[in-house]
Amino acid sequence: MKDVIILTGSGQIGTAISRRVGYGKKIIVGDKNPENAFAAVKIMTDAGFDAEAVETDISSKQSIKNLINEAQKHGEISMLINAAGVSPSQASVETILKVDLYGTAVLLEEAGKVIKKGGAGVTISSQSGHRMPTLGAETDELLACTPAEELLYLDILKRENIKDTLHAYQLAKRCNVKRVMAEAVKWGEKQARINSISPGIVVTPLAIDEFNGPRGDFYKNMFAKCPAGRPGTADEIANLAELLLSDRGAFITGADFLIDGGATASYFYGPLRP
Ligand SMILES: NC(=O)c1ccc[n+]([C@@H]2O[C@H](COP(=O)([O-])OP(=O)(O)OC[C@H]3O[C@@H](n4cnc5c(N)ncnc54)[C@H](O)[C@@H]3O)[C@@H](O)[C@H]2O)c1
Repeated sequence: MKDVIILTGSGQIGTAISRRVGYGKKIIVGDKNPENAFAAVKIMTDAGFDAEAVETDISSKQSIKNLINEAQKHGEISMLINAAGVSPSQASVETILKVDLYGTAVLLEEAGKVIKKGGAGVTISSQSGHRMPTLGAETDELLACTPAEELLYLDILKRENIKDTLHAYQLAKRCNVKRVMAEAVKWGEKQARINSISPGIVVTPLAIDEFNGPRGDFYKNMFAKCPAGRPGTADEIANLAELLLSDRGAFITGADFLIDGGATASYFYGPLRP
């Protein structure tokens, strides 16, 4: 038996993080798209990692439970890497809320029940959640603490209160950060830690869909005018995730880390100001 990593979302970010921390462990790769999962497993296996795919839809609690059951057959779950998600140009408001918001909430809850003592997790949120004005203490608490099965019935998440897919995505990512805070308290009962990473533009198939989507010029302008002057790479996200998942991050839990080349700083106080 080995320590097991659950990776959800076998895209560039999830795979880069898994490769950074997955040596000597079993990596169980859950993705809704089996082709993506098998491709990631092949790349990792060819590079000496022990990885296996399990078709998983994080918007289904049953599917998450099945993934966890499969993972537990190989040993104790010591890490969760959640990098599954859909972007505003890829999906409807309903799908974004179901996958990015509800799915993440259920996954953090279910993984928290089985995480090994001293384990750690990261979930990928987004700079988008940092662009929205504050929602107020009461709404924040609802997003953080409402039981996952009731989340999508909150007034703020009702279809008539959501402008478009970008708004849905921003709400989902804001919710992810709040859930991480509330989950960190529960994970802490097992001396386990959970954190959120909010990337800016990172070149991946999801981001390339955005460059070619209706907001393409907006995104290209964003990375051209951010202090870093370029988009990020999945490996730079893995640099941060490695710290958070390692013992060097032992005092970090319930936190969110913006890693966006300064785009959000420029959005508020620089040339990206709307
Ligand atoms: N790339 C960026 O610029 C960027 C910026 C900020 C945040 N993010 C976030 O990072 C995460 C990973 O994105 P990425 O850029 O690596 O994208 P990606 O498209 O490379 O990977 C996402 C993966 O998630 C899978 N997926 C989609 N819906 C799923 C579901 N219901 N259940 C299981 N798997 C599902 C997809 O099949 C895909 O393999 C997402 O949450 C995204 O919102 C990305």
